[in-house]
Amino acid sequence: AASDVYKRQGVDCGTSGTKTVLFDENGKVIASATAEYPMYQPKNGYAEQNPAHWAAAMLDTVRAVVSKSGVNKDEIKGIGISGQMHGLVMLDKDNNVLRNAIIWCDQRTAAEADEMNRIIGREKLIEITANPALTGWTAAKILWVKNNEPEIFEKCRHILLPKDYLRFILTGEYATEVSDASGMQLLDVPNRCWSSEICQRLGIDMELLPSVYESCEVTGVLRADIAEQLGLNAGTIVVGGAGDNAAAAIGTGVCAEGRAFTTIGTSGVVFAHTPSVSIDPEGRVHTCCAAVPGEWHIMGVTQAAGLSLKWFRDNFCGAEKDTAALMDVDEYYLMDKEAETVPIGAERLLYLPYLMGERTPHLDPDARGVFFGLSAMHTKKHMLRAVMEGVAYSLRDCVEVFREMGINVSDMMACGGGGTSPLWRSMLADLYGCEVKTPASKEGPALGAALLASVGAGIYGSVPEAVKAVVRTDKVCQPDSSRMERYDEFYSLYREIYPALKDSFSRLATL
Ligand code: XUL
Repeated sequence: AASDVYKRQGVDCGTSGTKTVLFDENGKVIASATAEYPMYQPKNGYAEQNPAHWAAAMLDTVRAVVSKSGVNKDEIKGIGISGQMHGLVMLDKDNNVLRNAIIWCDQRTAAEADEMNRIIGREKLIEITANPALTGWTAAKILWVKNNEPEIFEKCRHILLPKDYLRFILTGEYATEVSDASGMQLLDVPNRCWSSEICQRLGIDMELLPSVYESCEVTGVLRADIAEQLGLNAGTIVVGGAGDNAAAAIGTGVCAEGRAFTTIGTSGVVFAHTPSVSIDPEGRVHTCCAAVPGEWHIMGVTQAAGLSLKWFRDNFCGAEKDTAALMDVDEYYLMDKEAETVPIGAERLLYLPYLMGERTPHLDPDARGVFFGLSAMHTKKHMLRAVMEGVAYSLRDCVEVFREMGINVSDMMACGGGGTSPLWRSMLADLYGCEVKTPASKEGPALGAALLASVGAGIYGSVPEAVKAVVRTDKVCQPDSSRMERYDEFYSLYREIYPALKDSFSRLATL
């Protein structure tokens, strides 16, 4: 192969699995591999994963991709890692993992979020971390371990985010980068560095925290023993990478003002790039550093987006799974077709997707899922359609907050597993009232991570330059005015249900 052919790898450590993709210089996929792992829910509202599963999934998929691609290892110029945000990995002095990671959708920390407000004050927290105390973010999880498992906290010498634990395995470095670090709630987000004030007031020793880089900076190189295991060159660079959402932004070309995307993965996120720091005073959407140096983004998050559909599939769609296997198609494809046969509004059935509490716009760890309006005439396919619509209503809630903040959402990309569903995309176009575009590459976060690696390797001079060279748009889904009107009728009713149930959710949490 010619020496001017540059390949780079993106590794995305998601909630349902880890995916590794090897791209060529045009962003074309050369080879990819995925390995899945479980999420543990030992109690209602808890969510944990085993970091050893992430590490095994990364090593297996990188090895598989390198060997099946047939690419000479000298051509692999760099690795970028992205991953689920906010998870807490604690290591002892010998780098052993001290407990399962408490992950992003865990909601056990209501008392710790209150404690943060008490100790630091809501205004101060927003001023420094750009966000109000959030139950799902890492700082509250650290305090929970400190309060509930002091013997573990005492042994902790290093705190890492999920993808940064993988970086540690690859390079031996304790490092992170600004986009994911923003989601720890220990970062001074406007100044892109750890906040000594927040750490000190929360009693978190800054020595525990990794070094912070910009997302496209080189954070270390592959260790010789790991490189050997993987079939790569020792010394291959590993760049900062990004939290999955900031990485997806790069992979979908959302790195300039006015550009936005929606992703339906396990979570659902509406994300908009902002050249300066923009904060919702009510704290309904998050503000984080972008993977573009010196810029930021906002995002609204629905906790259980793809998770709602996966929950429905796993519990109720055995028949669809069997048929899909016989037909050799994806079971979600069949579920999409089934939901398409049901009219808008699912014959008056609504679904609230709050299986894991909710962030945007309610910020309520006690909220839970609801089917509203069940009738004896409803069948499984109505419930299926209602689940998809409920997730789309919740994403519309995020767009409503953006609009209140004066953020333009006219250029909307769709990505994530759910973004591949034509039905879900058309629901989004109708509910947002704007075109929803699909990127030519389906590999949002992994492509974003690989593009960051290509900047770190010096192939491109800047992140926007890499995006311009590689990211392309594919299909465009248009909104339809008659469908928009129909959806709006149900959406306005959807908005009334949570406020009516808020107190009941709190009571339920105490039973
Ligand atoms: C964002 C968030 C999720 C995870 C899921 O704040 O918690 O999108 O990153 O992977």
